[in-house]
Amino acid sequence: MLQTNFLEKQFSNPLTLASGILGLTAASLHRIVQNGAGGVTAKSVSLEPRHGHPNPVIISKERYIINAVWLSNPGAVEAVEEFVKFKQLCSAPLIASIFGKSTDEFGKLAEKISVAPIDFLELNLSCPNVSHEFGQRFAFSAEAVTVITKKVKEKTKIRHYYCRTRNLRVA
Ligand SMILES: Cc1cc2nc3c(=O)[nH]c(=O)nc-3n(C[C@H](O)[C@H](O)[C@H](O)COP(=O)(O)O)c2cc1C
Repeated sequence: MLQTNFLEKQFSNPLTLASGILGLTAASLHRIVQNGAGGVTAKSVSLEPRHGHPNPVIISKERYIINAVWLSNPGAVEAVEEFVKFKQLCSAPLIASIFGKSTDEFGKLAEKISVAPIDFLELNLSCPNVSHEFGQRFAFSAEAVTVITKKVKEKTKIRHYYCRTRNLRVA
């Protein structure tokens, strides 16, 4: 009854793990599916590995949790390996998430990540805590979003993707 068809992909239910909450290893993502998620979004991936901030990157108080991870991830090559393993473990829809420092990097990343058996591609255009490194977020510029979307479309056969901003999701 909760089965959901989203952009021609079947989800057993509409609950989907958000990007970054539990990394991108096959084992972690599979565990989320085993515990009831209809689909999973992997942690955002860059071309090269990134260490991110040193721990602690999450602080929990009585009334709030704040995080500043700084987009740590193992890079595109390792991510592809994990996505392949994930699909060997289950068939739940897998959303990969990518981010780059330039519009060109998004194209290159889309090409590399699309080698993996992913179902959707999320473009992370708005990470809030890396502006001193990345400059103004791409999500603030319609022109930048247009260029990135075109570059990604040129480099991937995946036709299910959306641009992610903090307050807006575009199918
Ligand atoms: C520890 C942590 C790591 C996160 N890492 C990512 C990430 O790598 N990429 C991304 O797009 N969002 C990341 N997020 C943001 C979550 O995906 C986001 O909080 C969630 O989708 C809720 O959506 P909202 O912030 O737009 O309300 C992270 C959030 C947390 C708490």
